[in-house]
Amino acid sequence: MTKKLRAKITALGTYVPPRVVTNHDLEKMVATNHDWIVERTGIHERHWVEPGVPSSELGAQAAIAALKQRGIEASDIELIIVSTVTPDMMFPSTACVIQHKIRANKAWGFDILAACSSFLYAVTTGAQFIENGTHKKVLVIGSDVMTSILNPEDRTTLVLFGDGAGAVLLEPAEDGEDLGLIDYHHEIDGGGGENLYMPGGGSLHPPSHETVNQKMHYVHQNGQAVFKFAVRKMEELSTGMLAKHNLTGDDLACFISHQANMRIIDATANKLGMPPEKVIKNIHKYGNTTAATIPLAMNDAINDGKLKKGDLVLFAAVGAGFTAGSVLMRWAY
Ligand code: UT7
Repeated sequence: MTKKLRAKITALGTYVPPRVVTNHDLEKMVATNHDWIVERTGIHERHWVEPGVPSSELGAQAAIAALKQRGIEASDIELIIVSTVTPDMMFPSTACVIQHKIRANKAWGFDILAACSSFLYAVTTGAQFIENGTHKKVLVIGSDVMTSILNPEDRTTLVLFGDGAGAVLLEPAEDGEDLGLIDYHHEIDGGGGENLYMPGGGSLHPPSHETVNQKMHYVHQNGQAVFKFAVRKMEELSTGMLAKHNLTGDDLACFISHQANMRIIDATANKLGMPPEKVIKNIHKYGNTTAATIPLAMNDAINDGKLKKGDLVLFAAVGAGFTAGSVLMRWAY
């Protein structure tokens, strides 16, 4: 019997635009204040692009950094999967734009739209192509320019989001090597759709003067409904994944979740019995970067010496859709 191939992450690149926007900067734009934002979300600052910089640009920078770290050429990549809710345009896909930008001339690719869960969805989708033996180098990119869909007059969403990107390279684990993706569990609950969405610009409400006047091209969120779902699902999927593998929080080197709200991360970490030093948090400096939060947090975990080769790490995310997912992995480099 042939042994199942396992997909492992062999490189990571990240990129955030240089412009830092503090809570005090936002106080000049909307009726908000630093203390409210910190107390309710944990966010102190975020990075925003200069107007006109698209998701493909951030994603390409992250991709180039990942390729450089691995010491391979863009032409070695066979498949590019981009997770984003802010594609450069409706079509072609941002994967096509990035493929051309980085000159990955032998790669095919596509986009995945699962909002804040999309990076985990994309990693597990990419892993299928490694595990079935058809591909050896898959680039998974999470990139979002959330500022392109934020209402500059809506304090309830403007303060929450930042722009950023991350990219990981997936390759097959060596024979007998106990590294890489161990398991995943993903769910959607489409009934939660209208709690977090951008209603305009698609086939239901094609762009028109009316959709723009009604601000339908911006993020709309029922924060409390999303918060309640996120706390419940994040806990359920995280504890469920550990129980399935007879693990506890003690077995994990670290817990990396989507960064939407400090209180959601803390509630889940408490449920897992994780000590604070094992819980990766960077929401204070990036805000919610949607598809980029998890690779940005991977990068911080590595830089802080909390994620090393052989470490067991649990990832979890909840996002618009509702979408949700958890991934268990043994870190590979
Ligand atoms: O990544 C995708 C998933 N998204 C999430 O996970 C987000 C989940 N939701 C949340 O993180 C929280 O619900 C928020 C951070 C969005 C909001 O926090 P909250 O504690 O749920 O606040 P709230 O919506 O209940 O609002 C409380 C008050 C309201 O005022 P009143 O009605 O009590 O007078 C809001 O109008 O805070 C007000 N408020 C603000 N005040 C200052 C809302 N936004 C702001 C603001 N600055 N930026």
